[in-house]
Amino acid sequence: MKRQDKRAAIYAGTFDPLTLGHLDLIERAAQIFDRLIVAVAEHSRKNPLFTMDERLELARAALQHLPNVEVDRFAGLLVDYARAKNVHVLVRGLRVFSDFEFEFKMALTNRAMAPDVETLFLMTKEDYSFLSSSTVREVAELGGHTGQFVPPVVHAALTRKLGPAAAQPPAQKRRSQRLAADE
Ligand code: COA
Repeated sequence: MKRQDKRAAIYAGTFDPLTLGHLDLIERAAQIFDRLIVAVAEHSRKNPLFTMDERLELARAALQHLPNVEVDRFAGLLVDYARAKNVHVLVRGLRVFSDFEFEFKMALTNRAMAPDVETLFLMTKEDYSFLSSSTVREVAELGGHTGQFVPPVVHAALTRKLGPAAAQPPAQKRRSQRLAADE
């Protein structure tokens, strides 16, 4: 049996797309651990807007400034992936109280399946405690500006995917809406 890498951790998620909330958590976890694997989930019950390749590419681009962070994909159980990587710490972010019940269930299920894999929780920065990927997707889909919620590279990808309205800053948009109304 291979030895566990005690200075490494895994931060898993669907990352559809990666937000500033994820980024904040990854940057902080990367300061705690020597090596952090950001693991993008392949088989999620969700129906992602971005393909697996797009989510990997966006995560790699947004995290390229962090030399000890690698981005990988995984399918199946997260604990199996962790064992395959010889990593025994799963990092999770806690945003609001409502996360707690879900996270508690997930951590205990993972522990029942793999007692050697520990879940470690970090509190999300207050500024991002309300954020989720689906909120960001909804804002983009409805023509809102997503630049304040996601890294620039993700904002650009949302714009390409969901049209130019997603790229327009609010002030500019209001002005163009006024001009359109005046015509
Ligand atoms: N900042 C901003 N948003 C955050 C966040 C943060 N710090 N942390 C989480 N979120 C968002 C996510 O983007 C996600 O948004 P969405 O639901 O609108 O898409 C939401 O909060 C929930 O996040 P999370 O609980 O991490 O879900 P996920 O789908 O991103 O990842 C897996 C869940 C993939 C880690 C989990 O399902 C898994 O381990 N799957 C593998 C199968 C397995 O092992 N199952 C048994 C586990 S009990």
